[in-house]
Amino acid sequence: MTLQVIVGAQWGDEGKGRIVDWFAEQADFSARYNGGDNAGHTVTVGSRIFKLHLIPSGIIHPQIIAILGNGMVVNPTTLFEEMDFLRQAGISVTPERLRISYAAHLITPAHQALDRALEAQRGKGSIGTTGRGIGPAYTDKATRRGVRVGDSLAPDFCDRIEDHITESNRTLRMLGAPELDSAEICDQYRKVAARLEPYIADTSLELHTALQAGKKVLVEGAQGTLLDIDLGTYPFVTSSNTTAPGALTGLGLGLDAARDARVIGVVKAFQTRVGSGPFPTEVFDDLALRLRGTGEHPWDEYGTTTGRPRRVGWLDGVLLRYATRINGIHELAVTKLDILSGLESIKLCRAYRGQDGEFTDLPFGPADPRRYEPVFEELPGWSENVSDVREWNDLPKAAQTYLDRLASLAGVPVRLVSVGAEREQIVPHS
Ligand code: GDP
Ligand code: IMO
Ligand code: MG
Repeated sequence: MTLQVIVGAQWGDEGKGRIVDWFAEQADFSARYNGGDNAGHTVTVGSRIFKLHLIPSGIIHPQIIAILGNGMVVNPTTLFEEMDFLRQAGISVTPERLRISYAAHLITPAHQALDRALEAQRGKGSIGTTGRGIGPAYTDKATRRGVRVGDSLAPDFCDRIEDHITESNRTLRMLGAPELDSAEICDQYRKVAARLEPYIADTSLELHTALQAGKKVLVEGAQGTLLDIDLGTYPFVTSSNTTAPGALTGLGLGLDAARDARVIGVVKAFQTRVGSGPFPTEVFDDLALRLRGTGEHPWDEYGTTTGRPRRVGWLDGVLLRYATRINGIHELAVTKLDILSGLESIKLCRAYRGQDGEFTDLPFGPADPRRYEPVFEELPGWSENVSDVREWNDLPKAAQTYLDRLASLAGVPVRLVSVGAEREQIVPHS
């Protein structure tokens, strides 16, 4: 097996970063295929906490070559900050270890300004974006006005940036937002071009060649299944294909690369979401505080990128079953099991109820405008702290039952259980 895809099975922040870190020990490449610095992936190694937005989490392992694929939108300012941060932490970030697709798109300050202005205009109907310019950058890509990483090699790169700022200013003016100084941004992007150059590559070809040579490529999804532009809770989604098949187009790989691929769905032991949109199993009040935490621990449910409190709820087995199907998930990695310790009972949504009774497959996917009532079953909780457990049989019986039920709702087995943010806090399923 040479291609492993780690994909979020919910609305993002499932703990993909820490699961990638676990698998990266055995991999040669770590590759991202979608999104940009809207992502925030956390890896905890002893006292060091790495919060990565653009660079794949595998980079922390010294043998890894990190790839930013053509499906991504790259904010160079964040990228350079992240490179500096990693270097300060003693991680080598050289052009040999970090490869950026020439076909990835660049995010500029104009995209960020447009993101904010569009959200302000949406008012009450706002999506609750991260404000990182993701939507506008993918809009420019789709309308074929985008500026790509490889364009920075062209002699007329600054003219292209200038045209892009002039065009964006027209829209900003219409939205009543302040316009941007194109000379200043052109100057900034001239320096960006020089700094990016050594890292620009044909990453599609490099990955293809690596796979042919039997190398192991670990693919890291950003966001989660339910934020997928086509298959998520539209319009409350991000602007890219977050689901596993997007790894092929987003990395420039053909279907043959998927033949022996393994897809690992990362699922938090409960459900969270940042921003607006439907959330059928959401809980409020004291229980929400209990699941979210107060912010005193680094793993409490506050956005890695924006610091916003995450909405929380019980695990939605119907949406997990959907995620398993559309990603082709083979096995699950369940995170944050430790957070459920101490709850008297735990609810799990096993079906939805509509006028015609109960069902486990949504008639029109997760964005169905008709609202259905979740049907819960209640399982006994456990009081034991599971943070130090490393073997399946040492997990409390009630925790095993909960995980088994989750797996049966998804229709695929649990392979790993994470019982803490720290690298070693993993329980493989025996
Ligand atoms: P990602 O975007 O999917 O990579 O997830 P984030 O990094 O945004 O959010 C997950 C948070 O949970 C981070 O703070 C992780 O360090 C933390 N985390 C991951 N797995 C566990 C776990 O099993 N237990 C606890 N307590 N925290 C975890
Ligand atoms: P990781 O990779 C959780 C959400 C935003 C908003 C919607 C659109 O860390 O799991 P965007 O800025 O992408 O246009 O915002 O998507 N969102 C995320 N939620 N985790 C993420 O990334 C997210 N990236 C975007 O909150 O609701
Ligand atoms: Mg995150």
